Amino acid sequence: MPLRRARREDSAAIAALHRLELPGALFTRLGDAFMVAFYRYLIDSPIAFAFVAEGEGRLLGFAACVVRWRGFYRGFMRRHLWLAARVALASLRGGRWRRLLEVSRYVTAGDLPDAELLSLAVDRRARGMGVGRDLTRRVLEEFRARGAGRVRVTSAEANAPATRVYLDAGFQKQARLEMHPGEVANVFVISLNNKEAALRQER
Ligand SMILES: CC(C)(COP(=O)(O)OP(=O)(O)OC[C@H]1O[C@@H](n2cnc3c(N)ncnc32)[C@H](O)[C@@H]1OP(=O)(O)O)[C@@H](O)C(=O)NCCC(=O)NCCS
Repeated sequence: MPLRRARREDSAAIAALHRLELPGALFTRLGDAFMVAFYRYLIDSPIAFAFVAEGEGRLLGFAACVVRWRGFYRGFMRRHLWLAARVALASLRGGRWRRLLEVSRYVTAGDLPDAELLSLAVDRRARGMGVGRDLTRRVLEEFRARGAGRVRVTSAEANAPATRVYLDAGFQKQARLEMHPGEVANVFVISLNNKEAALRQER
């Protein structure tokens, strides 16, 4: 599957795919204007990047990543103060603040890497064809090229396809966050200096 680096003008299509394929995610509830602004900022940022898969002139999938989480969010908040305030409000209302706080506590304690695979989604009609795997492999190459030693990704424990893709790429489960009873998220981490992980990705 041919992949390319996301461009600014992909932001709306990425936001639309995110809304469709990640309907339960916090960002989705913040609305399209937020997501388009967020992805545009991410694509423009020197400490973030995204890749897309295309077919028949439409977006089939994307993966969005941040190399330095803290600097990235600080910059985003400075640039889009009102949008950042909406995130905070929606997190509080949705009770997601606990999970966000827990994740940021891990990150600030140095247990989790600053580099993160933020979102990955593939159009329903293109699933099971290796697009998710290819995007994951490509973003890990990019992280390595940018000198990231370790990378994290968070996904719902019930999300079997995502768990499969991440474990096969070499990620290992590092933390389990119970947000609400029955709603569990796993945080996976990959060490890019690990030769075994690198070999697995080359397969
Ligand atoms: C996760 C996701 C990106 C995977 O994309 P994809 O292009 O279908 O992935 P691939 O085709 O590369 O591989 C999927 C793997 O999951 C497996 N899989 C698919 N459905 C599965 C299921 N219900 N249970 C277990 N494994 C499953 C596939 O068999 C495949 O593994 P295999 O190659 O060993 O057979 C896609 O399912 C998606 O967009 N989901 C919604 C958004 C999401 O959850 N994103 C991740 C959280 S950020």
